[in-house]
Amino acid sequence: MILKKEGLTRAIEAVVAAGGSEPREARLVAENLVMANLLGHDSHGVGMIPRYIDSLLEGGLSVNQHPKVQIDTGALLALDGCQGYGQVIGQEAMAMAIERAKKHGSCVMTVGRSHHLGRIGQWGEQAVAEGLISIHFVNVISRAIVAPYGGADARFGTNPVCIAIPLPGEPPFLLDMATSAVAQGKIRVAHNKREKVSRDWLIDDRGNPTDDPRFGVVDPLGALRTFGGHKGYGLALACELLGGALSGGGTEHQAGDRSKKRVWNGMLAILIDPARIENNGLFGQETVEFLASLRKSPVAPGVDKLRIAGDPERETRAKRERDGISVDDNTWKEILAAGAKLKLAAEKIEALARG
Ligand SMILES: NC(=O)c1ccc[n+]([C@@H]2O[C@H](COP(=O)([O-])OP(=O)(O)OC[C@H]3O[C@@H](n4cnc5c(N)ncnc54)[C@H](O)[C@@H]3O)[C@@H](O)[C@H]2O)c1
Repeated sequence: MILKKEGLTRAIEAVVAAGGSEPREARLVAENLVMANLLGHDSHGVGMIPRYIDSLLEGGLSVNQHPKVQIDTGALLALDGCQGYGQVIGQEAMAMAIERAKKHGSCVMTVGRSHHLGRIGQWGEQAVAEGLISIHFVNVISRAIVAPYGGADARFGTNPVCIAIPLPGEPPFLLDMATSAVAQGKIRVAHNKREKVSRDWLIDDRGNPTDDPRFGVVDPLGALRTFGGHKGYGLALACELLGGALSGGGTEHQAGDRSKKRVWNGMLAILIDPARIENNGLFGQETVEFLASLRKSPVAPGVDKLRIAGDPERETRAKRERDGISVDDNTWKEILAAGAKLKLAAEKIEALARG
């Protein structure tokens, strides 16, 4: 199905509202998920809805929650996400941190026990829109799927890192990435198509690198590898310690019943107001000059153009705003089934989606 963003947003909003969310919450969740699809990150788009609804019905996700302040010293803020929708907890936690960073020049904010915060880049974008730099370390409490470097089984999640920097006169630098070599979804797709995967992505159940995607999908399970070997592993561990342990949200070893569908995130966010730290405008000037120099690099064979982080998503968004968002049949059926669990008729969801 090819759907326009407005219809898809209305359909997802209706499913979330059927779960008991207030209209604002339903809208924030729907807009966040559809934006992930628009930017090309389908793994964090509307396909998350079935999992959210299962988590809601199992008690892992609570509706209509807001971040609770645990510690507040002005430029230091520790929040509890109360198992609420990450789309609301993230937005409100960032709004508080932004206000503090503008007042004090910087803010260190932690939020623990949020339900899935979705695409972490959204929280970086929220800060950048206010002229702030924002750095995020996030852990995931769910089923462990990534192995430590040198380890032979999964011990943590795809722990994302995000660094967002406003750039003078152009869209921001937005590095937003999982620390696993690849998303779990890519292994599943390869398995369904009976294709091999890169040995850099996966280990088997004994810890050997493998190109057989079944070790990412069926028992006996192996694990995903971190990107860049020991370097990505180091970052993933930093996410667990900063996003999990420091935030008070807990680390992956506390995941408990692994059959549950809940996905909790813990996040450390560090916000900096560049206007307050820069030396006579040097940050802006150096940024412009460095990027101009970077872009003089000759394009390598087989590459169409040189990009910076954030560019690929902006390109995909322009295409999908124009042509619509493709939602595969399985994902759509699962969304309708999630609606049915909340007594929302498939016909109603379909009608909203088609506008
Ligand atoms: N909430 C969670 O638990 C969770 C967990 C893992 C990932 N995520 C999210 O999943 C999303 C996808 O992560 P990913 O690692 O698959 O992203 P990715 O590998 O597609 O992109 C990673 C980064 O590289 C940049 N990039 C890509 N191609 C580039 C190029 N040619 N030149 C320069 N820069 C380039 C992108 O702009 C992006 O910032 C992210 O939004 C992340 O926050 C969330």
